[in-house]
Amino acid sequence: MAKIVHREELAQGTIILNEIDAPRISRKAKPGQFVILQADETGERIPLTMADTDPEKGTITIIYMVVGKSTARFKDLKVGEEYYALIGPLGAPTHVEKLGKVVCVGGGTGIAVLHPIARALKNAGNEVTAILGSRTYDLLILEEKMREASDTLHICTDDGSMGHHGFVTDILKETIEKEDIALVVAIGPIPMMKFCSLITKEKGVKTMVSLNPIMVDGTGMCGCCRVSVGGKTKFACVDGPEFDGHQVDFDGLAKRLASYIDVEKQSMDAYNK
Ligand code: FES
Repeated sequence: MAKIVHREELAQGTIILNEIDAPRISRKAKPGQFVILQADETGERIPLTMADTDPEKGTITIIYMVVGKSTARFKDLKVGEEYYALIGPLGAPTHVEKLGKVVCVGGGTGIAVLHPIARALKNAGNEVTAILGSRTYDLLILEEKMREASDTLHICTDDGSMGHHGFVTDILKETIEKEDIALVVAIGPIPMMKFCSLITKEKGVKTMVSLNPIMVDGTGMCGCCRVSVGGKTKFACVDGPEFDGHQVDFDGLAKRLASYIDVEKQSMDAYNK
């Protein structure tokens, strides 16, 4: 039952990698799909897109940032211990085809979600330019894996500690102005996906984003994960998690995600006592 077989602390111990024993999910999962995990019987159900799968070993890999009580509880689980529940694979897989030149933009733990998609796009014969961003170089994850999954790699840091001193959007803008790009995949914090989508919309470059709203059942029944896309309500767990970035109401999504901030803070404070 969802035993942790390998664990790593990445990026100053704030981002955690867990490789989990899950033979059936590892055989069925495709890039872009997610699982829902629960640390214990009363724990919150947390959706996480798989960073990797190994059908031969029968494992899946997830990477998450510790941001509240539930992820702090996940961080406490050691190798050999088990998640109480693991459900998946969920969501629609990424549509992968040979298009020509594609750009994959990743920020924060979004890079973990981006990696299998970039690899699949490269394996399908596309020329992949990767643009990765983080606040500081110490917080950048999966640089080598993304180098292998791309033809050109750019790193951007807010503090200038590595690569371009500035945002991923600066390099994205230069790239789509210089080259004929068939697709941009942008996965990361909501403001990053929003501004990447605004830039590509101006140029008419097709853009795909992966959304991670609050979820409960993950099967399209509770309505918790609803997002507005092109003025229509969509459920990220079954209609997504990937959507056309030019159609997503990012401001509405950010507002919904912030709904429980006070309760989350109280819960984290109580957990730390
Ligand atoms: Fe319940 Fe998507 S999580 S409908």
